[in-house]
Amino acid sequence: MAIREIIILPDKQLRLVSRPVEKVTPEIRKLADDMFETMYDAPGIGLAAIQVAQPLRMITMDLAKRDENGETQPRPRVFINPEVISSSEETSVYEEGCLSIPEYYEEVERPARVRVRFTDLDGKLHEEDAEGLFATCIQHEIDHLNGVLFVDYLSKLKRDRVLRKFTKAARRTAE
Ligand code: NI
Repeated sequence: MAIREIIILPDKQLRLVSRPVEKVTPEIRKLADDMFETMYDAPGIGLAAIQVAQPLRMITMDLAKRDENGETQPRPRVFINPEVISSSEETSVYEEGCLSIPEYYEEVERPARVRVRFTDLDGKLHEEDAEGLFATCIQHEIDHLNGVLFVDYLSKLKRDRVLRKFTKAARRTAE
């Protein structure tokens, strides 16, 4: 496993539409391993392949559960070619962040529940209902596969402000 570099706003790759994973090859498994290592190291709860500069429709996620002893149990999950097949009319608001927009958090309103279809690392197709944090996280990550970022849901004023901030920061590191 290896930690890969996470690309940061305003990197243009974040706006790419990722392509479907045709087949779960050893390279795809390796990418999933690396994405988990990168995500845990960051640390974050979800990561889309494009965030490590791989334009493939693939997501890693770990919404770790606490066990009865209050200890956190890892729960790594991979979603290949995920799609939302239905969404609730009811919405919920979560404060979101993104490893590609570090240390910036804002509330975003999304459907409270979604039904998701995806393939796992064994190539098996699944359908699953998501709610709560899982629903928000999977929608946020699927957005990445379509070149959409959570700041796109904010007011133009807020979005322009965060874009300017990260553009300036990128210019400073480049100097
Ligand atoms: Ni993100």
